[in-house]
Amino acid sequence: FAALRDVSQSGAPLYLQLKKNIEEAVKRGLIGPGDALPSERDIAAEADISRVTVRKAVQDLVKSGVLVQRHGSGTFVAPRMERVEQSLSRLTSFTEDMARRGMAARSQWLDRGIYTASPDEMMVLGLSASELVSRLSRLRIADETPLAIERATISASVLPDPHEVTSSLYMALGKTGHRPVRAVQRISAVNLGEAEAQLLAVPMGSACLQIERISYLASGKVIEFTKSIYRGDAYDFVAELRLPG
Ligand code: GLP
Repeated sequence: FAALRDVSQSGAPLYLQLKKNIEEAVKRGLIGPGDALPSERDIAAEADISRVTVRKAVQDLVKSGVLVQRHGSGTFVAPRMERVEQSLSRLTSFTEDMARRGMAARSQWLDRGIYTASPDEMMVLGLSASELVSRLSRLRIADETPLAIERATISASVLPDPHEVTSSLYMALGKTGHRPVRAVQRISAVNLGEAEAQLLAVPMGSACLQIERISYLASGKVIEFTKSIYRGDAYDFVAELRLPG
C-alpha cells in the first residue's frame, strides 16, 4: 500500500488525492478485486492525514463502486463484475435467470404499496380512473452485487396485497394462476441520475439499459407493466435473428 503513502501537497483537497491514489492502485493491480483495504486508522497514519479525510475518500469510492464495505469485516476492492448474458427471447424472471447461473437473487425493497393507477398504468393495464394497482419497486441483487432497479405494476384485482410478494413476483403470480406467458419489451439507453447510480453502486451518469416489459396472460389480458434499469457494465442482451417470412 505504498501508493497510499504518497498523498502529496499538490493543492487539490487531500481526500481527492487519496481517492486518486487508491483508484490508481486498483487500476495498476497493486490491490486486486476482493482485497481488503487497510483500516481507516492505518491509512490515516501511513498517509499522515486525518481519519475524516480517509473516510470521505473511501465513502466516495464505495459510492462509485470501486470499493465495497461489508458490515463488520471492513472495506474491500469491489469484485470484478462478470457480465450476465441475457436472452431476449425467453420469458423468465430475474430469480430464475440468476438461479440458472448459480447465483442467489435477493431484493432490497424501495417501495411496495397500493396506489391509484397513474394515466400510464391505466392505459397499459386497461384500467379505469380510480382503479387500484400494486406497485413493487426493488433493487435486484445477485450474490451481493446490485444489478437492476425494477418498478413493477400489477392490477390490484390480481395482486390485492403487494406484501404477498416476498422474493419472486412471477412465483407469487404463478401461485394464483397469473404467470405471464408472453411479453413485449422495449429497450432504450439511459444515463443514471445520482440516486439510481448510488443504488446500483456505479458512478453517476453511467450507461444503463432501460427495459419496459408489458406481459400478458394466455387469455390476452395484460398482467404486468414493469420498468427496469439494468447496469450497462453488467448485462449483454442476446437475441436470435431469423430471415423474415
Ligand atoms: C425480470 C423482468 C421483470 C419481471 C421480473 C420478475 O427481471 N424484467 O419485468 O417483473 O423479472 O422477477 P421475479 O419473479 O424474480 O420477481
